[in-house]
Amino acid sequence: MLTKQNFLQGYGSYFLKGTGITIVLTIIGVFFGSLLGTLLALMKRAKNKLVKAIAVVYIQYFRGTPLLVQVFMIYFGTQILHLNVSAFASAAIALALNSGAYVSEVIRSGIEAVAKGQSEAARSLGLSQKQTMRLVVLPQAIKTILPALGNEFISLLKESAIVSVIGVGELMFQTSVVQGSSFKPFLPLVITSLIYFVLTLLLSLLLKYFEKKLHAKDSI
Ligand code: ARG
Repeated sequence: MLTKQNFLQGYGSYFLKGTGITIVLTIIGVFFGSLLGTLLALMKRAKNKLVKAIAVVYIQYFRGTPLLVQVFMIYFGTQILHLNVSAFASAAIALALNSGAYVSEVIRSGIEAVAKGQSEAARSLGLSQKQTMRLVVLPQAIKTILPALGNEFISLLKESAIVSVIGVGELMFQTSVVQGSSFKPFLPLVITSLIYFVLTLLLSLLLKYFEKKLHAKDSI
């Protein structure tokens, strides 16, 4: 029988490896999700009806279907197309595609949260629509967008546990490996939940700190 201390000595590396992959997957997902989300938010504001419709359908589809299904679809879909995409890459793609839909809404609501009078004033001072967006609306919108992006990072970190179903060796997957080889079903879960908890706690503290800094600039 392994004691608790030996347990960590024996299996600690699994948790470490899993945590590393979870963090990398989340960073990739949020990074590309933010790029895609910005593009989608712009497309949704476009005058061209087709461009707008594509964005609307995309966002609705990815927010309206389970991430679990999307992960399976990317994984098996790329196999059917004979594309040589690894489980890790499929997971990263699925997380980024999913996150993009959520981020686009974050950006849209950030822009809409800026009082209408701001752009009306800018326009009546003679700024073009583009200048108004770039110089007046976006600098203010960023204050709502950045904290919300931080929240998206926290969400995606937790949601990434789903990709264990296609065998990506992230934290949840390693947990099942440890459960299987140690014949202990519960202890590995406790450790894993604590790891997720510490990660999200640290992230939310970091977020609070930056949010304070963002708002401190207001009073200058
Ligand atoms: N758990 C939900 C799902 O399966 C939400 C996914 C959240 N994704 C995100 N990027 N915040 O669809």
